Amino acid sequence: NPIKPPEFKSCGSAHDFATGDPLDVNCCPPISDDIKEYKLPPVHKKRVRPAAHKLSDEYAAKYAEALRRMRELDMKDPSDPRGFTQQANIHCAYCNGAHDQAGFPGVDISVHYSWIFFPFHRWYLYFYERILGSLIDDPTFALPFWNWDNPKGMQLPKIFDDPNSALYDANRNQDHRPPAVVSLTLGSDATDPVQIISNNLSAMYNEMIGGVTSATDFMGQPYREGDPVPPVPQGGTSERGSHIGVHAWVGDPRNKYREDLGNFYSAGKDPAFYSHHANVDRMWTIWRNIKTDYSKDIMDGDYLNSSFLFYDEKKQLVSVKSGDCLDYKRMGYEYEKIDTPWMNYRP
Ligand code: C2O
Repeated sequence: NPIKPPEFKSCGSAHDFATGDPLDVNCCPPISDDIKEYKLPPVHKKRVRPAAHKLSDEYAAKYAEALRRMRELDMKDPSDPRGFTQQANIHCAYCNGAHDQAGFPGVDISVHYSWIFFPFHRWYLYFYERILGSLIDDPTFALPFWNWDNPKGMQLPKIFDDPNSALYDANRNQDHRPPAVVSLTLGSDATDPVQIISNNLSAMYNEMIGGVTSATDFMGQPYREGDPVPPVPQGGTSERGSHIGVHAWVGDPRNKYREDLGNFYSAGKDPAFYSHHANVDRMWTIWRNIKTDYSKDIMDGDYLNSSFLFYDEKKQLVSVKSGDCLDYKRMGYEYEKIDTPWMNYRP
């Protein structure tokens, strides 16, 4: 059977999956019994997600203002599910064992290292983007993506590095502020920027093309109701590769769990998280269009019917299914077109 949405009223404490240590944080969402099945609204205006490194000052200011208002909600009413802390807590609750699987007490839900990784995070960004848009009354607001797969975007986007902006987060590796070149490979010790860029392009080629011979290689292995938390090797090539690489690279080594981006429970507290994940999501859209001799579709009902709960921009708790987010254009957004030089970077 498919993974079912958690019961918010049985949400408990969070722990670090690597060490098992309990975490000193309560990341449970507000409880509501009024759950609606989410229907994608008709698309009137498209949201085109732009590359963060090319953003106009005007767009960057608009994004920062939306986030400022989202942070302000934390102050006005900490239980407002649209507030920034509540948004960040979604990641903690779904990723650090606060939620159990409904009907399986003691069996944690984990949205990493399996085939629900991409759909869960797509829905998460979808509502985050809609909430930000509604806070500035802009139905076309689209989340900028951190274009780390292209040499031009291989540094933390500058919009996140201004201490006076709502987009800033102090909990980052200070040696990796722009213009340091991001390394997409966990644990790489390359220091020469030219070498890092070349390594990044080969890593991208491998995780998108060379090292992928089936849909689950890329998406992640099956994860079904009652299954224990999937171990790292069951994740897809992209999740285990550039996705984790960027988390670790930005996370702050001065903090015990490399907070913020370096641990799942805290990752959502860094605004850069959402732009990082927009590019992860973009990789999913690009992979779907690469010509391959294997099928990209996963037809298993346990994949298509796996479902999650989110609060929408009207504070309504809704349930969503993985199978309903596969056609992202129906969700009303797309990505600015940018070259993908790694496509021809066969090692
Ligand atoms: Cu849910 Cu990048 O992690």
